[in-house]
Amino acid sequence: MRTRPLKVALLGCGVVGSEVARIMTTHAADLAARIGAPVELAGVAVRRPSKVREGIDPALVTTDATALVKRGDIDVVVEVIGGIEPARTLITTAFEHGASVVSANKALLAQDGEALHAAALDHDADLYYEAAVAGAIPLIRPLRESLAGDKVNRVLGIVNGTTNFILDKMDSTGAGYQEALDEATALGYAEADPTADVEGFDAAAKAAILAGIAFHTRVRLDDVYREGMTEVTAADFASAKEMGCTIKLLAICERAADGGSVTARVHPAMIPLEHPLASVRGAYNAVFVEADAAGQLMFYGPGAGGSPTASAVLGDLVAVCRNRLNGATGPGDSAYTQLPVSPMGDVVTRYHISLDVADKPGVLAQVATVFAEHGVSIDTVRQSGKDGEASLVVVTHRAADAALTGVVDALRQLDTVRGVASIMRVEGE
Ligand SMILES: NC(=O)c1ccc[n+]([C@@H]2O[C@H](COP(=O)([O-])OP(=O)(O)OC[C@H]3O[C@@H](n4cnc5c(N)ncnc54)[C@H](OP(=O)(O)O)[C@@H]3O)[C@@H](O)[C@H]2O)c1
Repeated sequence: MRTRPLKVALLGCGVVGSEVARIMTTHAADLAARIGAPVELAGVAVRRPSKVREGIDPALVTTDATALVKRGDIDVVVEVIGGIEPARTLITTAFEHGASVVSANKALLAQDGEALHAAALDHDADLYYEAAVAGAIPLIRPLRESLAGDKVNRVLGIVNGTTNFILDKMDSTGAGYQEALDEATALGYAEADPTADVEGFDAAAKAAILAGIAFHTRVRLDDVYREGMTEVTAADFASAKEMGCTIKLLAICERAADGGSVTARVHPAMIPLEHPLASVRGAYNAVFVEADAAGQLMFYGPGAGGSPTASAVLGDLVAVCRNRLNGATGPGDSAYTQLPVSPMGDVVTRYHISLDVADKPGVLAQVATVFAEHGVSIDTVRQSGKDGEASLVVVTHRAADAALTGVVDALRQLDTVRGVASIMRVEGE
């Protein structure tokens, strides 16, 4: 074993960073044996230097992250600050000064992955980010390496634990959205400002990263269609139950049947109870991958939290250190296919639509005509009503999203349709 240690700069020592430091210290001997050289924590950059950090030598702590990455003797920079800046500049500076980078930063990778990969390549450095998509769950390495000889056609995932916790609560207790969110906040599963999670921004960033890697193409954050889950109601869950379904916020990345384009989207959807993703409870994450030769694969586990996320960061750190000792770099950007990303209107799926209608003869026929005029074929219709008002639940066969939008616009014009109570896509069949 080499005795000269590989030097690691840790940028950020919060929820994830403190766990990275702890595992590096407590597993030091095993990590050294696995890598073939000891790994030394050479500096820890934070915002508040006076904060007590258990297990961290105060002499290593600095507020000058730039000086740390510019030192010139750092082998690997671990970026767990988060956000766009200063993380982006620190990562590119790290490459310029000869270091490889491990990051957990989904927001940055989704927005600037292309430029960061190019910077890594320019400097013969590694850029690894297993922790950015699903915490402890190995996903990027399986897609990039284990499935490198296969053709991935679909990635369907629950990639946000906060939203899964809320939806699972609504499902199991009949609670409304706000009640379930309040409980998630009280238990620490939701942040004080939950917007990034409940509006699907976090999942959209992950979808962009996953789609790019799975289909070897460039998928930007702006390419990902996004709908949050704040409008999901207890009534939606009741309807889902009647259909033998539950509701999940899904990230869905698909290759078109002709292989010529891809789509990426995040939205709440009904999925059948027998689908493996339906049984993902609480704050757990799971990603279902469909590939030509491998068939269906499911990756499941804790998608966030300091210790699980640090596990993925440490896995990357070991890989990057091994590459460094071998004088090599690992697999980098592989966006060689340059497939166009189709708009949401081209996505084909099934729909569950709840309508409030007048309870009088001919309404059903009127509604059915609208669907037929837009080429959307109806699978089932369920009607219930009293006191002159009725509700109508229509489930369609597979249709393009643009056609469904046309149906909904036309339904809203009908005098007999009082309102469109909910529109939910049905996935995983
Ligand atoms: N938490 C999770 O479960 C999880 C899961 C997957 C991925 N991630 C990703 O991991 C990254 C870190 O998340 P986290 O939850 O650990 O965040 P966090 O608890 O807020 O920690 C951020 C750390 O960065 C430091 N920091 C902030 N601005 C800085 C600056 N300008 N210069 C130097 N240090 C700075 C903070 O210093 P102070 O300690 O002094 O405030 C803190 O130590 C993010 O990209 C996040 O998306 C997190």
